[in-house]
Amino acid sequence: MFVVIGVSGGIAAYKAVQLVRLLVQHGHDVHVVPTGDALRFVGLPTWEAISRNPVTTSVHDDVPKVRHVALGQSADLVIVAPATANTLAKMAAGLADDLLGTTLLATTAPVVVAPAMHAEMWRHPATVANMAMLHERGVHVVGPDDGALTGGDRGPGRMSEPDAIVQAAYAVVGGGDLSGLRVVVSTGGTREPIDPVRFLGNRSSGKQGVAVAQAAAARGADVLLVTANVDSGVLAAASLPSSVRIETVTTTAQLQRAMTDAAPHHDVIVMAAAVADYRVAEVSDRKLTKEAAGAQERTLALVENPDILAGLVAARRDGQTIVGFAAETPGEGETLVARGRRKRARKGVDLLAVNEVGWSTGFESDDNAVIVIDAADDVVAEVRASKRAVADTLWDAVSAVRAPRR
Ligand code: C5P
Repeated sequence: MFVVIGVSGGIAAYKAVQLVRLLVQHGHDVHVVPTGDALRFVGLPTWEAISRNPVTTSVHDDVPKVRHVALGQSADLVIVAPATANTLAKMAAGLADDLLGTTLLATTAPVVVAPAMHAEMWRHPATVANMAMLHERGVHVVGPDDGALTGGDRGPGRMSEPDAIVQAAYAVVGGGDLSGLRVVVSTGGTREPIDPVRFLGNRSSGKQGVAVAQAAAARGADVLLVTANVDSGVLAAASLPSSVRIETVTTTAQLQRAMTDAAPHHDVIVMAAAVADYRVAEVSDRKLTKEAAGAQERTLALVENPDILAGLVAARRDGQTIVGFAAETPGEGETLVARGRRKRARKGVDLLAVNEVGWSTGFESDDNAVIVIDAADDVVAEVRASKRAVADTLWDAVSAVRAPRR
């Protein structure tokens, strides 16, 4: 999507940097149009670096490209954040004395404004009348939020958080190709307690599944993310929109319960979590000690965990798409694809994303190499890229599988 972000001169301009970043992360072509005043708060190099596009503020820049109207004409969506009282007044009056003004007059794209100002200014009859006028013209408004304002006062006037603005904008423009799809994604690795301080676990960071959830949300899906022991830093780095529901589990039994409860309410299930195949037969209430073992060796009896994915496939409802992940260390004489095909058939999933893992590949990294196998045993995608790009490839494959049903 070609997105124009108008930034006017308020302190909340610093939060608009994150808004631009989110939209770029979601794969949009973002063009920032700051007012002259906005540049007193956040400088031009920041906008250019974050948006990855050139930024100008004057109608006299780039004249041969007719920039004063070209941006507005090209836009699929215009967001003004922060929208100050002054900019809202100019919009209501239809003034075009800067690049943002001309862009707004030249566009037929939906316009979303995120007002930010002091509470008195927001409540002033002039602003109230301007907002009524903009509302009548079909401009969409997100916020302002109620809370602490610059200067220590409180009230309505805080610019909405960037992820709320993104969600509001997606709601307006139809939100991408997965709009309306309900998806549940599991990620991380389950842990099985041995005693109060120890567990059996695995090295899964959860990054790939978090990226799968992030990509789905960016493309308009309604997302539930079930995380098993995912580091809070991994979640924070993904800056998931607040619309993504997160459920936290630790053990395989908890993950099974969460997925089984969620499955009937979702159209697509992605099992990206690394599930412990075994749990400890008898979990000790007290910390196990060397003395109590009485020998140099200790044996832990393990019992097999249920295969959550198999259960979900067995209970699959009509129209539901189920995706599994497999981390494989290929055996001698057998290719990754051959192993993947066998596993896909055994699991009965619609798609299996297979990645090769070894001691040093696959787990904590930000990149991944994956092949995706469908129910006809075809390799429908082969991708070596960032985990986010892998996630987008996976959603393309899910869309292709579901296409005949639409
Ligand atoms: O058989 P394997 O563990 O390689 O299968 C991987 C896939 O099966 C993953 O999607 C994983 O989430 C799922 N799985 C499961 N329950 C288990 C083991 C794996 O749902 N007990």
